Amino acid sequence: MPHFSPVTKPEIIICQDVAALSRRAAEQFVALAHQAIAARGRFAVALSGGSTPKALYSLLATAEFTSQLDWRSIHLFFGDERCVPPDHGESNYRMVTESLLEKISIPPQNVYRMAGEIEPAAAAADYGAQLARFFSPQENHPARFDLVYLGLGEDGHTASLFPQSSALNERVQWVASTYVEKLAAHRLTLTLPVINHAAQVSFLIAGRSKAAMVKAILANSTSDYPAAQVSPSDGRLCWFITADAAGGVGGLP
Ligand code: 6PG
Repeated sequence: MPHFSPVTKPEIIICQDVAALSRRAAEQFVALAHQAIAARGRFAVALSGGSTPKALYSLLATAEFTSQLDWRSIHLFFGDERCVPPDHGESNYRMVTESLLEKISIPPQNVYRMAGEIEPAAAAADYGAQLARFFSPQENHPARFDLVYLGLGEDGHTASLFPQSSALNERVQWVASTYVEKLAAHRLTLTLPVINHAAQVSFLIAGRSKAAMVKAILANSTSDYPAAQVSPSDGRLCWFITADAAGGVGGLP
């Protein structure tokens, strides 16, 4: 496997705990939103699923942060989704709704849900069409998000790009459906061409269980894992990591 040769060197931000990580990430969200809205009149974000981002989403919904945000100019997409109905306990859309959407005044048309309840390949094609309608990509360039949030699995997956998955090798479609053997479940996910075309990609990583994988990717610079292949070609990369997840990478340059 080719060695991980980052086009973009990750900025590593180690935070004491999830609350501190969420605050740093929320401050970055506000700064990026102000920049994007001033420059282009809108801020397009792809939200991560999983559990780590919940605290960030809840913090963004507080008066302290939401008072700094013009949600009418903010557009929320999803980096991936489980192939379940939107009210299912496993749904990323349900998690984002409960932690953020039902607490803020964002126009419903500014939230772009992946249709987890329909046939996966059709859902992927539908979401790709939604991205094409929203982004007016230059010829041969994928959609460009202002911010993409990602998590890290203990196996090195990110979004729903799992090791050995066909979606990992997708270089044309912006959204793919994939069957994850170990989960015995179908997933929908943004692909690397879209993720690596973002202006900013920010990983949100917490928990001692992630320490080995964080070290494998950041200290040993291997690209054997999907998360190691996230390297924006014309953007910035940031790893927000809690101290317990960063155990093995202290002293990084
Ligand atoms: C998902 C995510 C997935 C997640 C990682 C980390 O839909 O589950 O997109 O990639 O970010 O599995 O999840 P935790 O934040 O729960 O550790």
